Amino acid sequence: MEATKVTVIGAGNVGATVADCVAKKDMVDEVVLIDIVDGLPQGKALDIQESAPIHLFDTRVTGTNTYEATAGSDVCVITAGLARKPGMSRDDLLSKNAEIVRSVTEQFIAHSPNAILIVVSNPLDVMTYVAFATSNFPGHRVMGMAGVLDTARYRAFIAMELGVSVRDIQALLMGGHGDTMVPLPRYTTVAGVPLEQNLEREKIDQIVERTKTGGGEIVQLMGTSAWYAPGAAAAEMVEAIVKDSGRVLPCAARLEGEYGLNDLFIGVPVRLGRRGVEEIIEVELSDDERRLLDTSAEHVRSNLEALQRLQSA
Ligand SMILES: NC(=O)c1ccc[n+]([C@@H]2O[C@H](COP(=O)([O-])OP(=O)(O)OC[C@H]3O[C@@H](n4cnc5c(N)ncnc54)[C@H](O)[C@@H]3O)[C@@H](O)[C@H]2O)c1
Repeated sequence: MEATKVTVIGAGNVGATVADCVAKKDMVDEVVLIDIVDGLPQGKALDIQESAPIHLFDTRVTGTNTYEATAGSDVCVITAGLARKPGMSRDDLLSKNAEIVRSVTEQFIAHSPNAILIVVSNPLDVMTYVAFATSNFPGHRVMGMAGVLDTARYRAFIAMELGVSVRDIQALLMGGHGDTMVPLPRYTTVAGVPLEQNLEREKIDQIVERTKTGGGEIVQLMGTSAWYAPGAAAAEMVEAIVKDSGRVLPCAARLEGEYGLNDLFIGVPVRLGRRGVEEIIEVELSDDERRLLDTSAEHVRSNLEALQRLQSA
C-alpha cells in the first residue's frame, strides 16, 4: 500500500493544530510541519509525536525548515502568513500574505507536483486564488478552508442555544470568509427538522450575525485569531480527501460558471475525495440568498483586484 503524506506549511498556532489533529486521526503515514523559524516546526512536531503513546497513533510527525523533506506529499495545508491582530481586518493582510503564499506554494510544488492544496492563510478566498495561480494546478486540486470552520461555529452556536448535541445540527453556509459570508438557515436542520421550526427568527438572526463575526469575537477576546477550530476544520478536509470519503463540506472552490460566477474561489458545498474537489454542488437559492452570495462574490473579486493593483504598482 502506498504511504500517505501530508505537509503543513506554517508551524504557528493553526499549522501546529492541523498537524496535531491530522496525527490524532491516525489516518496518514506521515505529517511534515515546515516553517521559516529555526527549531519551531521541529519542536512542535516532536511534542506532537511524543503524544502518540497517549493518543495512540502511528503517524510519524516531523518538523523541517527545508522543502526536500516535504517531497511526495499527497496533501498540503498552507497556514503560513501573518495572523490578524485586534482592529486589523483580514484584508489588511492582503499583500503581505500573498507574497508568503506565493513563495511557499512555489517551493512546495517543486517537490510535490501532484499534491492537493488546502489554503488556510487569510484573506482566505484571495490566498486560495494566489495558490491556484502560482501552482498552475487544475482547479479541483486547490481549495480553501473557511466554510468548515464557519459552519462549525454556526452549528456550535445553534447547539448552545437549543441545548442539543452538535451531532444533530446539519447546516450549510456559503460565500466568502468574512463578514459577507452567507449562512443559510433555510438549509439548517436539527435532527432533520428545519431550524425555523426550532427557533424564532430573531434568535436565528442573532446566531447568523454572531457566526459572521465569529473570527473577530475571538480576536477581541485574546488579541489574536483562533486556532483550535480552524485547525480541526482543515484536518477534517484532509480526512475527507485521504479517505476518499465523498463528504460534502463547504469549501472555497474554483467556480467556472457554477452559481453564475466565474474564475473565483468562494465558499460553496463540494464533494471531497481523492481528486480533491470531486464535484461542486449547486443548491437552489432564493432571491435573497442569491443576492447575499453575489455581494460576497463582489467583495472577494474586489479584494482580488486590489491585490492585482498592488502587485502591478
Ligand atoms: N481560513 C480560516 O478560517 C483561518 C482561521 C484562522 C486563521 N487563519 C489564517 O491562518 C494564518 C495563520 O494563522 P496562525 O494563527 O497560525 O498564525 P501564526 O502567526 O501563529 O503562524 C503563522 C506561521 O507562519 C510562519 N511563516 C511565515 N512566513 C512563512 C514562510 N514564508 N514559510 C513558512 N512559514 C512561514 C510563521 O513563522 C508562523 O510560525 C493567518 O493568515 C490567519 O489569518 C485562517
